[in-house]
Amino acid sequence: MHSSQAVIHLSNLKFNLLQIRKKIGQRKFMAVVKADAYGHGAVKVVKYLDTLEKNKPDFYAVSFPSEALELRQSGIRSRIIVFDPFEKENAHICLKHNLIATVFSKRHIDILKTAFSNYSNHNKKIKIHIKVDTGMNRLGVNYDKAYDYIKYVSGIKEFIIDGIYTHFAEADSKNKNFTFLQLSRFNKLIIKLRTEKIKPGLLHAANSAGVLDLPETYLDMVRCGISLYGYYPSNETSESIKLKPVMSVRSIVTTVKEIEKGETVSYGRKFTATKRTKIVSVPVGYADGYRRGLSNKAKALINGKVFNQVGIVTMDRTMFDVGNSNIKVGDKVILIGKDRNKSITAWDLAKAVNTIPYEITCGITKRLPRIYV
Ligand SMILES: Cc1ncc(COP(=O)(O)O)c(C=O)c1O
Repeated sequence: MHSSQAVIHLSNLKFNLLQIRKKIGQRKFMAVVKADAYGHGAVKVVKYLDTLEKNKPDFYAVSFPSEALELRQSGIRSRIIVFDPFEKENAHICLKHNLIATVFSKRHIDILKTAFSNYSNHNKKIKIHIKVDTGMNRLGVNYDKAYDYIKYVSGIKEFIIDGIYTHFAEADSKNKNFTFLQLSRFNKLIIKLRTEKIKPGLLHAANSAGVLDLPETYLDMVRCGISLYGYYPSNETSESIKLKPVMSVRSIVTTVKEIEKGETVSYGRKFTATKRTKIVSVPVGYADGYRRGLSNKAKALINGKVFNQVGIVTMDRTMFDVGNSNIKVGDKVILIGKDRNKSITAWDLAKAVNTIPYEITCGITKRLPRIYV
C-alpha cells in the first residue's frame, strides 16, 4: 500500500446529500459527478449514492461521453445526463448506453438523428435536455433564440424533450442581480413554451450556490457538485446548510532530520531555519496534486498539532517544520482533513494558492489511492 492516500468519507457524502435533500424538499436532485466526481472517484461515489434508496440522486451528470461510459461499464444503470453535446464519433455511445444528451444547435440534432438511424438496436426515442444560455456565454442556445429552437426540436419524432436547463454565471456572488436576470430570461422562455403548448420536461438551473441561497431557482430539479463533496462554492454564499468535507488526504512521516539555525530546506533554498529545529518529510508532492504554489504556505496536522510546511514542495515530497516536537518516522500526517479538534480543508489550501476547493479536490491525482471508508 502506498503510504499516502485520499480517503473518501462516504458517511459525509450521505450527510451532505441529506442536507441538500432537506433543503430542496420534493424537487429532484442531480448529482454532478463529472471530473471523476470532483476527484472523489465517480464509479465508487455513484455506486454508493445508488444504495441510498429513496434519497438516491434522481440523475447523475458528467461532462463527456467517456465519463458516462466509465459509469455504464462498471454496471451503473441510473439516469446519466452528459453536459457536453455528442459528436459524430461518439454519438453511438448515447444510444448504446441509454444516456441523456444535451443539445443546443441543429448540428447536435443532426448528429443524434444520424446515429439513431444507423443504430440497429434502438427501440426507444433519444432523451434530450436542451441547454439554454441565459448569460454564462459558454454552452447553450441563446435565450432569445431558444423558443424557435425548442419548437423545432419538439417536432422531431426521434427525440423526447426530457428537460430544459440553464447554468448560472455567478450565483455564488453576494450580489445576485445577474442570477435573477438569468432566471427571469429562463422563466420567460418557459412561460412562452407553455403558452404554445410545448412541453419542456424537467426544468433545472440551480447549482450548489443556488441551493444555498436562492430557493426561487430550484424549479423541478437542482444540480449539485461541490456541496455534495462538502464545500461551499465561495466565501460569499450563505452557509444555509451544514456540509462536511468528503475527501481527506493523509500520509506519514518518512524522515526526521535536525537542522541548525541558518540551514535551508529544499530546492532554491526558500526556507531558512531561524533556530535549531526538526524537519520532517512526507511522501506527497505536486505530482499528487499537492500544489507547488503551496510552498511555505500550507500546514499539516501531525499527532493532532498544526505544523508549517517549509521550503519548496517537490514532485514527490514535502517538508514540514516540527520544531522540537516528538514526531517520529511513521507518524500519521493529515494534509487535508481532521485530527482531534483541528482541521485543514480544501478551502485552506485553495486560499493559499488563490483558487477554489473544486480545483484542489479535482487536482488530487490518481497516484494517491482512493480509500473509501
Ligand atoms: C452545468 C453544470 N451544472 C451544475 C454544476 C455544479 O456546480 P457546483 O459544483 O457549483 O454545484 C456544474 C459544475 O460546474 C455545471 O457545469
